Amino acid sequence: MTDYGFLERQLKALLDTRDWLTNAAQTSAFLTQTLGDLNWVGFYLQRQPETLILGPFQGQPACNPIPFSSGVCGAAARSRETQRIDDVHEVPDHIACDAASRSELVVPIVVDDRVWGVLDIDSPVPARFTRADQAGIERLCAVFIAASDLSSAEP
Ligand code: SME
Repeated sequence: MTDYGFLERQLKALLDTRDWLTNAAQTSAFLTQTLGDLNWVGFYLQRQPETLILGPFQGQPACNPIPFSSGVCGAAARSRETQRIDDVHEVPDHIACDAASRSELVVPIVVDDRVWGVLDIDSPVPARFTRADQAGIERLCAVFIAASDLSSAEP
């Protein structure tokens, strides 16, 4: 089982700047290196109204842009609730950027009551993400938010 408390302390130490761009790049690399069984980790940012623009990521080149009306990322941005998908093939409007993806976790990043963006994590393993993974990754997102000046990414 993943020790998310340990990862939280490591990520806090890693994010030693207020720069959101650096911190987003570091966070996506850190999650890729530490979590395992992932094929894509990255950020989409709301830099235009109701539209998610591809940000720092690890993995194959990905779909861009994604409107709030589409896909698992759009659902997370719209609802402001984490989307935990055991089988992406069962989601009719899932956007397949990498055919290897089988399960997905998307955490909305909300700052000052505005959707700054989402953290999207894909796995080639069905049902890769448990409730405990969701809670742990939401905590890691909170570390990213607390460490970063996110106002500079506004349109
Ligand atoms: N699967 C996402 C699209 C982004 S890629 O997974 C990187 C979605 O359905 O929104």
